[in-house]
Amino acid sequence: MEAVPIQNESVKLGLVGAGKMAKSIARGVVQSGVLPTQRISTAIYSNPNRGVAFQSLGVSLLPYNSDLSLPPSRDVITFSVKPQLKNVVLQLRPFLSKNKLLVSIAAGVKLKDRRVCDFEVFAFVQKPKRHGAIMSLGGAATEEDGELVAKLFGSVGKIWRAGEKLFGAITGLRAIEALADGGVAAGLPQELALGLASQTVLGAASVAIKSGKHAGQLKDDVTSPGGTSIAGIHELEKSGFRGGVDEYCCGCC
Ligand SMILES: NC(=O)c1ccc[n+]([C@@H]2O[C@H](COP(=O)([O-])OP(=O)(O)OC[C@H]3O[C@@H](n4cnc5c(N)ncnc54)[C@H](OP(=O)(O)O)[C@@H]3O)[C@@H](O)[C@H]2O)c1
Repeated sequence: MEAVPIQNESVKLGLVGAGKMAKSIARGVVQSGVLPTQRISTAIYSNPNRGVAFQSLGVSLLPYNSDLSLPPSRDVITFSVKPQLKNVVLQLRPFLSKNKLLVSIAAGVKLKDRRVCDFEVFAFVQKPKRHGAIMSLGGAATEEDGELVAKLFGSVGKIWRAGEKLFGAITGLRAIEALADGGVAAGLPQELALGLASQTVLGAASVAIKSGKHAGQLKDDVTSPGGTSIAGIHELEKSGFRGGVDEYCCGCC
């Protein structure tokens, strides 16, 4: 999405949780010019060193998280805390007016926990840093809310709308990252490792789609007795790869 400055001066961005994700969101929003720095703020929770990166961007540092939610602005409050999204939202709730649009980027939070939070509006944005983001709006969200969140996060990466249930699928991208990391560990330059990893996954997926064969059958087609492919698969099974991927996808849904 092309970055378009948000002219409405009452729209502000408050980042609860001043960590790595908040930093990359703030940087994207500032550098794209979607919001001027005076309309972006965050608060330090316990580690004062977290503030340095935000100050260098010109983002305001407030004393407390509750200061991020003062009326009457149409604030977009983004929760990028670790580890307890639910507790943090519950603590802030008394300070949140109806005017606030709440966005969570927390990964792996169960749907039931998000509902207990009873957000007025719930949007979930995933992977703002590397792959673009998918987002889903909660029941109370309007199309206008969706457009506002898409404008903000579109400045960090491409935005797609999707049902929350599909969010787990994006974790497949982690497989590419893990493959690329393995390539780097084996001595490949980063760019080459990522390119090869992406092509490997693309190739495997297109063979699976075109052939219509079961993944287990495809594996049998390419493994020979005592060969390197089955040796690699053996290592994956020993490390609990299959169960780990399964758990990971379930945890993110
Ligand atoms: N959607 C995605 O694609 C994606 C990708 C990566 C991560 N995430 C999620 O994004 C969240 C943040 O990740 P991160 O990598 O930015 O973590 P991080 O760098 O560790 O930052 C977490 C921040 O939360 C703050 N915090 C902890 N407890 C808090 C509380 N009770 N109230 C307010 N702030 C609190 C920490 O403050 P102090 O350091 O001062 O204690 C820190 O600034 C996590 O939930 C993670 O799962 C999402």
